[in-house]
Amino acid sequence: MSEMSEMERMEGYPKTLNIEITNLCNTNCVICPHDKMTRPRGVMSFELFKKIVDQSVGRIKEINLQWLGEPAVVKNYADYFKYAREKCGDSVRITLFSNAVLLDDPLPLLEAGISGIDFHIEPKQYYADMMPGLDRDLAVRNVLNFLKARNEGEYKTAVEVHYTYAKGKLDNGLEIDTTDINILREYERIFEGCDRIYYACFNLWHDNSTPDLRHDASIYDNKNRKVCHFPWIHMQITWDGKVALCCWDYNNNTKLGDLNIQNVEEVWTGLRMRKVRYKNIAHQFDGLICSTCLINMTSTDWEIVQEGIRGW
Ligand SMILES: C[S@@+](CC[C@H](N)C(=O)[O-])C[C@H]1O[C@@H](n2cnc3c(N)ncnc32)[C@H](O)[C@@H]1O
Ligand code: SF4
Repeated sequence: MSEMSEMERMEGYPKTLNIEITNLCNTNCVICPHDKMTRPRGVMSFELFKKIVDQSVGRIKEINLQWLGEPAVVKNYADYFKYAREKCGDSVRITLFSNAVLLDDPLPLLEAGISGIDFHIEPKQYYADMMPGLDRDLAVRNVLNFLKARNEGEYKTAVEVHYTYAKGKLDNGLEIDTTDINILREYERIFEGCDRIYYACFNLWHDNSTPDLRHDASIYDNKNRKVCHFPWIHMQITWDGKVALCCWDYNNNTKLGDLNIQNVEEVWTGLRMRKVRYKNIAHQFDGLICSTCLINMTSTDWEIVQEGIRGW
């Protein structure tokens, strides 16, 4: 298939829905733009969630049920997963991230048939400053308990654990260095049996003020910026049904649509979405948050976009 017809096919429907069940959280991590969000905060109504899932049955490959919040603060959060699984069937990958503290009962999620859960737990020596107010021992216990229940029940859910890889001064003045390989070794020891234990590179949010962690400005070279796969593959949906550009667009500056009054296909094939894609391809990043994004400019090119749609 030619490059152009692949692109046209991808414009039909997103492969992945990133649905923010809530942007409420039980903490305020120093790495996270959670406290910088000025958009409204709340929980997605089950009706809106059902509407989005129902129209996507048979058309998507993946649903990630979180963005800038902690899914487990929603009392009936497992119902969202259960509904998505029942409607979409086993072929769709359904995942979430969690800080683990509220996940004291693994069964509702395991029985809902989630494909994977990725736990976010910062290193012990920085935890109180990086994830204020949370109990790390409880988080670790919950992960190990989840793993045990997964193994005992022979559920297929993948269990992952990660922390943030960064060196320098964070927004709150805290000096951190999580680049020491011994931190990873310690995680491997504690979380033995998890399917993946890794560090996630610190990502500079577009209006973040963490100068010591900022990369050299010369790498923001828009001429050489590669095509980003997000606008071709992922739809980023806020708890109140608005469509943002990607996970990096945390305040939804881009405002691509509203699923309360439009359907997924309408937004995905709409003029605003198409404009973003073609501006990306044409390297015209003016007015787009893409111009300061480091996520994909160093790692994504058209081959990866194609890789992402293989198997549709
Ligand atoms: C925003 S959280 C939401 C889910 C859940 N509350 C959690 O902490 O996992 C989703 C993921 O974003 C990651 N994250 C937040 N800010 C980040 C940053 N500046 N750089 C890299 N990852 C970040 C967290 O590590 C977490 O895994
Ligand atoms: S727990 Fe997750 S959503 Fe909450 S502040 Fe931390 S990274 Fe952000």
